Amino acid sequence: MIVADIIQQQLGQSSFIRRMFEEGIRLKAERGEANVFDFTLGNPGEDPPAGVTASFQEVARRNAPGSHGYMPNAGYPRTRAVVAERLAHATGVPFGVGNVLMTIGCAGAMNSVLKAMLNPGDEVIVPAPFFPDYRFYIGNFGGKMALVETRGDFSLDVAAIEAAITPRTRAILLNSPNNPTGVIYSEATLRELEAVLQRADHPIVVVSDEPYTAIVYDGATCPLPASIISNCVITTSWSKKWGLAGERIGYLAVSPKVADADALFAAAVFSSRVLGFINAPAVWQHVVAAAPDESPDVEAYQEKRDLLCDGLAGFGYELRKPQGAFYVFPKTPIPDDVAFTRLLQEEGVLAVPGSGFGRAGYMRLSLTVPLDTVARSLPAFARTLEKSGRPGQP
Ligand SMILES: Cc1ncc(COP(=O)(O)O)c(C=O)c1O
Repeated sequence: MIVADIIQQQLGQSSFIRRMFEEGIRLKAERGEANVFDFTLGNPGEDPPAGVTASFQEVARRNAPGSHGYMPNAGYPRTRAVVAERLAHATGVPFGVGNVLMTIGCAGAMNSVLKAMLNPGDEVIVPAPFFPDYRFYIGNFGGKMALVETRGDFSLDVAAIEAAITPRTRAILLNSPNNPTGVIYSEATLRELEAVLQRADHPIVVVSDEPYTAIVYDGATCPLPASIISNCVITTSWSKKWGLAGERIGYLAVSPKVADADALFAAAVFSSRVLGFINAPAVWQHVVAAAPDESPDVEAYQEKRDLLCDGLAGFGYELRKPQGAFYVFPKTPIPDDVAFTRLLQEEGVLAVPGSGFGRAGYMRLSLTVPLDTVARSLPAFARTLEKSGRPGQP
């Protein structure tokens, strides 16, 4: 076998979203684009905010001499200073240039910090449901994912997290607002978690995965773990916030309150280099430094959220409106989520079964489709509910 056993195995585990993606291509070819409602991908449909595009054009126009070469592996000091200044303001923690590493998206940041921290066999606690690639990021460095179920409303079960801590626990992975549930973890919950970490008999780092913090609804604010938790490393990107997923620009920030922050930071910079990232894209480091305060069009997502959630709830689907991020995670009307998403597919709707996120009996619908797609898809959701033998309200 030319492919490594572990990769062969992981390809099998990651097949849900991949299969749905391939199904989508097949269905679109068969029925035409307009008749397929593809809710599977978390790829922002909106273009970047105008200020970001303008800054990108200005960077290209100026094309300053030397602006495409190698740089310090952590990134341009000016960009890191801009990021650190905003982080310090948002969290009240004195982040500085020496805490910020520019990365290849959020995935690059996560892999760099996990490589920096994990010895083979070390454990990383992950609340479920979870972003499926966490399993592979942790596995890349011989770590083991320890899943801990969240409560019925998908809030963190801090007592269960504490019970899952072992001498091998090195990190806890938090993602708020959450993909796939849309839940924002409350300040009280984060305080409870900080108390658990303070009681632990060895250092445990919270890796706070934050690509969705700018996408929150109904005027909510998203408490930032780094403002409460001392041993915190932030990983994030502009992929979701600005619709720049293809440009691969993100960062990692080690809180100055982490015990041994400098050592962990140096390890993360080294890890990023030897993972082959070397440095984050030069052009986009210039762009984010020049337009750091641009915001996404949250209202557009909120309109789609309300249309989809109110429509589905009206038919009898059980769901919680997401507080943030851009996914809806309803219960499937029958317990077999894979069977239910197959029924949806017959009606031209593509959804990802909750099993792919470690929670059977649910499905994930991404709000990155156009509003018109949401509106036109609703009758198909109603028909599928009837077909499943679990009709909702008349
Ligand atoms: C929760 C979460 N973390 C990390 C990532 C990876 O983000 P990026 O594309 O910036 O690497 C994603 C992308 O979907 C995500 O949903």
